[in-house]
Amino acid sequence: MRVDKSGNLPWVEKYRPSTLDDLISHEDIIKTINKFINENQLPHLLFYGPPGTGKTSTILACAKKLYKPAQFSSMVLELNASDDRGIGIVRGQILSFASTGTMYRSGFKLIILDEADAMTNDAQNALRRIMEKYTENVRFCIICNYLSKIIPALQSRCTKFRFGSLNSEQILPRLEHVVKEENIKITEDGKRALMELSGGDMRKVLNVLQSTWLAFGDVTETNVYSCVGHPLPIDIKNIVNWLLNEQYFSAYSKINDLKIKKGLALQDILTQLHLLVNKIEFPDNIIMELIIKLAQIEKQTAAGCNEAVQLNALVSAFQNARDIEKV
Ligand SMILES: Nc1ncnc2c1ncn2[C@@H]1O[C@H](COP(=O)(O)OP(=O)(O)O)[C@@H](O)[C@H]1O
Ligand SMILES: [Mg+2]
Repeated sequence: MRVDKSGNLPWVEKYRPSTLDDLISHEDIIKTINKFINENQLPHLLFYGPPGTGKTSTILACAKKLYKPAQFSSMVLELNASDDRGIGIVRGQILSFASTGTMYRSGFKLIILDEADAMTNDAQNALRRIMEKYTENVRFCIICNYLSKIIPALQSRCTKFRFGSLNSEQILPRLEHVVKEENIKITEDGKRALMELSGGDMRKVLNVLQSTWLAFGDVTETNVYSCVGHPLPIDIKNIVNWLLNEQYFSAYSKINDLKIKKGLALQDILTQLHLLVNKIEFPDNIIMELIIKLAQIEKQTAAGCNEAVQLNALVSAFQNARDIEKV
């Protein structure tokens, strides 16, 4: 009997693409990297872009293509945010890995610096010389979310690839693949909700899918939103309705009750509200004022101010806008 070792893995790991061809989107990047590898001309690489778009998966798939499993431990050094990456490790572990020869005659070693945003400037500066001096022996792959966190000197030594967020058409086939493999009952609006919530982050799609499936069984729109405690579209519609039509106290208490009943965060409500505000038919100057107030409330909420006070501010911002419109 075949024992399925991947049975208890979280799906993000279970369905991590193992070859370059399994990766969705980023066709140009994959094509270019494939060409580099096939012609044995791999430069130093720098991958950047938002989380969950396949950066780590891409370099791991490259490593699998470059080396046989037996070579892995001696040819690949992978450091991520959980390892210390101050200047000490650059001068110690990285330098010694880069400067020692390989057992295998041909080929270079690979050093993967995942989540390099966390590297100190000193450590990055110390890397510059190592990168140049040992190019014959080793290639670097630096991965980060924000390009600005990498010093320009390192950027100029690498070939840069930007991993953009994935769009719904790209996510859908992969999502359907997982759904089929795991035999999950999912509705069309459930899929839409997953993709909307994820904002182009494939890791989030898989994580939310798995938790919704574990918690509720069926993956529907309502279940997905309840699983992550995010307001449902209908809730937001109600909130806007109350804000625009109810008296002050009644609007406040209705929103507050809903918040408590469903455990919603004001921050999530604000984000969704903001998308709808532009569609309200107020004159431009009123909308502008309203949006500025919403932005202030969001900032104060993010800074940790009292939610009840901020909710009051939200209701009064709308009341104000309505009052001005009436005169
Ligand atoms: N382009 C992609 N194609 C297929 N699966 C992806 C892709 N990007 C992300 N994933 C899924 O999301 C998970 C996390 O991807 P990862 O490569 O670790 O993202 P990053 O390093 O960019 O944050 C992977 O295990 C995989 O299941
Ligand atoms: Mg990663």
